[in-house]
Amino acid sequence: MTTAPLFRPEWAPDSWRARHAAQQPDWPDPDALEAVLDEIRRLPPLVFAGEARSLTESLADAAEGRAFLLVAGDCAESFEAFSADGIRDKLKIILQMSVVLTYGSGVPTIKVGRMAGQFSKPRSSAMESRDGLELPSFRGDTVNDFAFDAAARRPDPDRIRRAYNQSASTLNLARAFTKGGFADLARVHAWNQEFVASSREGQRYEALANEIDRALRFMAACGIDLNAELQLHQVDYWTAHEALLLGYEEALTRRDSLTGDWYDCSAHLLWIGERTRQPDGAHVEFLSGVKNPIGVKLGPDVAPQDVITLCERLNPAREPGRLVLFTRMGADHVRDALPPVLRAVTMARHPVVWACDPMHANTFTHASGYKTRRFDDVMQELDGFFAACATAGVPAGGVHIELTGEDVTECLGGSDEVLGSQLEQRYETMCDPRLNARQSLDLAFHVAELLRR
Ligand code: PEP
Ligand code: CO
Repeated sequence: MTTAPLFRPEWAPDSWRARHAAQQPDWPDPDALEAVLDEIRRLPPLVFAGEARSLTESLADAAEGRAFLLVAGDCAESFEAFSADGIRDKLKIILQMSVVLTYGSGVPTIKVGRMAGQFSKPRSSAMESRDGLELPSFRGDTVNDFAFDAAARRPDPDRIRRAYNQSASTLNLARAFTKGGFADLARVHAWNQEFVASSREGQRYEALANEIDRALRFMAACGIDLNAELQLHQVDYWTAHEALLLGYEEALTRRDSLTGDWYDCSAHLLWIGERTRQPDGAHVEFLSGVKNPIGVKLGPDVAPQDVITLCERLNPAREPGRLVLFTRMGADHVRDALPPVLRAVTMARHPVVWACDPMHANTFTHASGYKTRRFDDVMQELDGFFAACATAGVPAGGVHIELTGEDVTECLGGSDEVLGSQLEQRYETMCDPRLNARQSLDLAFHVAELLRR
């Protein structure tokens, strides 16, 4: 039996260089950039091909409604805010959300952190002006510094090396936490941080955790040796980021010795953003040739035919679990813009995971000057997404959320309402506003209910 060739023979890790690459920084010293990339090329991979293959298998389940994908983490990771506690708290909320989702839906939650590599940011405008001064926009800590002065905003390739190192140590800690006891289901109560536990959704979570305790005691009483059940004591945890800086992604692309296939070993799952998904562009070219599972963000203006072209380019062999489509249509547009896209892909028989990013098309600037999102808009986009999937007869396969484990005040609303006047209290993001841990848990309960329906 012959199988369809997966990838084009003319593809190579650097074949993207012949295409237009949108959203790349204007590096002042291209030789210095290439020197850093050469160094990265010799450094160890951050993830392994076999891990990426396991994730693809799990995503194939999500495409058929037998698993649910949760992608969550910062909009942009930061050098300055890097800490063990920050990583731990983000893992806690992701574990809590997964328990809520799995308990509610009865299917496994695939846990993917926007973490250990989510540094580079696309920008809607290349320059930023303040009080008559115009400087290059902040493009993420891999590129330049957030501070608004000319020296800080100059792209500096040394930052790529630092991002690699921070990714390695973040991943090291995440692996230890998720395999070394912290993620043990017996610790389900310990993930509930104090400021969350005192809230309405925190108490709802406590009640659920009590039920899990009871179920575990019941199984033990039936004679099941819970210590022997590895799944109760550790979890699979994957990483993902936007594959934006193609030089960096190329430098971490390695050939798997087992299969001969190429993998981008900077993360398990890589995605293409709304601003870089041109079918003939460099980002699509690059990701078309690596075997990792990949994602594409789709905004409200996408033409259904373009989505089909992207599916053909990125998953010509129609391999289930290879492609996740993250739709980010906006609360006002999802009910109109999503159905034609769902229909077109279904008619073309492309097996994809449909996942909702209810964040990126619901951002606006508040009167106080802060960029924010309304919790209610996020919920409404989720409702619209689930409704459209149900009508189209496709499983709602996942969600993609920007959050933090901390008690920030960046998004408005939620049951412990964050008010416009409170945005300034703890507004810490360098890029997009994130849900705090209470709002995130609230969202998980809402999605669990949508999944149950
Ligand atoms: C993001 O995920 O942070 C992002 C920039 O998304 P999008 O490409 O959907 O705008
Ligand atoms: Co963002």
